[in-house]
Amino acid sequence: MAELRAVLAARPEPVGLVPTMGYLHEGHVSLARRARAENATVVLSLFVNPTQFGPNEDYARYPRDLEHDRAVAAAAGVDVLWVPAVEDVYPPGAQTWVEVEALSRRWEGERRPGHFRGVATVVLKLFLAARPTRAYFGEKDYQQLLVVRQMAADLLSGVEVVACPTVREPDGLALSSRNAYLAPAERAEAVALFEALSRARTLLAAGERDGATLEAAMRAALDAHSGVEPDYAAVVDAATLEPLPTIDRPARALVAARVGGVRLIDNCAL
Ligand code: PAJ
Repeated sequence: MAELRAVLAARPEPVGLVPTMGYLHEGHVSLARRARAENATVVLSLFVNPTQFGPNEDYARYPRDLEHDRAVAAAAGVDVLWVPAVEDVYPPGAQTWVEVEALSRRWEGERRPGHFRGVATVVLKLFLAARPTRAYFGEKDYQQLLVVRQMAADLLSGVEVVACPTVREPDGLALSSRNAYLAPAERAEAVALFEALSRARTLLAAGERDGATLEAAMRAALDAHSGVEPDYAAVVDAATLEPLPTIDRPARALVAARVGGVRLIDNCAL
């Protein structure tokens, strides 16, 4: 932390922060480029945060490639690549946590107990360390984006949370560090999530306003792929993430599924 503060003391404001867990791809790069365009100094943090992983999740095997990440960050215009150690972020005996209550309750929060507590806590720590004017988050992790934005406002952080659109592969699959786990056959099936979201958008464009009908269509699109195990396919209020029976306000479609052993999530505006 002290080292980061010393480096930033010599850099111009405003500071734009891009929090990541590394294994950088074009989704991360899009956040860094946006930060580059809007700030005098761009900090990209690379920290695989242990507290947001459940006991049976992939913390130990989360993909890591620091040399690749250094090159990608530099090419994206990042000024400061910050790679703290676990003890820097969590001093021994740390016992302070940030809980964003209602927005964390459903969907990912329900399947991954403690996940958003870990995310909200680490993001606040990153904010306190880097003291950014703006911080950049992807719509790819839509619930995370809302949780972080709520935390930033509730705790008077003064940080502007900037939402960036999801970057996709040519077939629609959202870029994710976890895509690296997919075997070739699984990679081909993974397009099911995007197909489900596209189905919902097509029905909506044709005038369908019934949430359950859109959810059934998304579920059918997932079920059409034998290697895909759907977890949830939901139509929700875009601000509260509560289920939305009728689309009469800004809405979001959320999907989660297992492809092979890999859990993937995606979402889109409705
Ligand atoms: P990570 O999965 O590395 O993602 C870092 C940021 O990149 C997040 O804001 C995420 O939404 C964004 N991102 C990932 N894939 C994207 C894509 N295809 N298009 C656009 N943006 C994308 O999310 C985390 O790390 C962590 O939870 C973190 C916020 C760093 C806290 O530990």
